[in-house]
Amino acid sequence: MRMRREPAIQVKTPAQLDIMREAGLVVAATLSALAEAAGPGVSTAELDAIAEEMITGAGAVPSFKGYNGYPATICTSVNEEIVHGIPSQARRLEEGDIVSIDCGAIVRGWHADAALTVGVGEIADERRQLLCACERALWRGLAQARPGRRLSDISHAVERGARAAGRYGIVEEYVGHGIGTEMHMDPGVPNYGKPGRGPLLVPGMALAIEPMLVLGDRHTRLLDDGWTVVSADGSPAAHFEHTVAITSGGPWVLTAADGGEAILAGAAGAVSAPAAGGN
Ligand code: MF3
Ligand code: CO
Repeated sequence: MRMRREPAIQVKTPAQLDIMREAGLVVAATLSALAEAAGPGVSTAELDAIAEEMITGAGAVPSFKGYNGYPATICTSVNEEIVHGIPSQARRLEEGDIVSIDCGAIVRGWHADAALTVGVGEIADERRQLLCACERALWRGLAQARPGRRLSDISHAVERGARAAGRYGIVEEYVGHGIGTEMHMDPGVPNYGKPGRGPLLVPGMALAIEPMLVLGDRHTRLLDDGWTVVSADGSPAAHFEHTVAITSGGPWVLTAADGGEAILAGAAGAVSAPAAGGN
C-alpha cells in the first residue's frame, strides 16, 4: 500500500484473531500451492485461476479482486516487476525468472495478506541471494512484532536485515500496513527507519509486513496499466509478506502454516533458502 499518516490502530479480540488465523491459513495453503505450480511454461493467469479456486473452495473470499478495480485474485510480479503485477494468459514463466506472488483472503469479514517470491526452475545465484535477503529481512521485522516494541522497531529491523545481506535497493514508495476488517489499515509500516518511534505495539494489533528489495537501485516506476510497479533501472526485485498478530506470547505469524514458530524460535533471521518453484 501507499504510505498514510493517521495513527489509530485497530485492536482485535483473541476470537477475532482466531478468524484472521483462519484467513491466514487459507492464504498460506494457496501460496504454497502456487509456489509449487510456478514452473517454466506456466502462465501467471493459470496461477491466478488456481488461487481463486483454492480460496473460494475454502469458503473464503479473494480480497484483491475488485479492490480499487483490481482485476485478479493474486498479483504476479515477474523479474523487474516489484509488486502489483496483473496475471495474464500471455505471460508464461520461463526458467530463471523470479516471480512474486501476492495473495489475500477474507474469512467472515477478517483479512489476511501474504506474498512470497520464488525462482522458476534454476535461477542465477545473485537472484537466489536476493530472495534470501528479502525473506530474511521480513523475518527480522516479524520478530519485533511483540508488545513493548514500537512500530519503527519493525521498520528498523527490516532495514538492518536487508543491509546486512548485501547492497540491495530497499523500496520506499510502498510499505506494509495494518490489517483486520480491511486489507489496508493504519498504520503504514515502512521497511526502513530509526528504531523506537511511532505507536507502541500492544496485543491484538495485526500488521502486514512486506519488504521489497531490488538488486539495483531502489527507485520505482508505475507501468501504463496503472498497477504494475517496476524497478526504474530494470533490475530484478523480490517481495515477501506476512500478516502477523501481536500477542502477549510474542509474534503470531497468521499466514505461516506453523504460526512462525520454527523460524522465530531460531536465531531471528535464520531463514533457509527459498524453495525453487515448479519441481
Ligand atoms: N498485498 C498487496 C499490498 O498490500 C495487495 C495488493 S492490492 C491489489 O499492497 F489491489 F493489487 F490487489
Ligand atoms: Co499487503
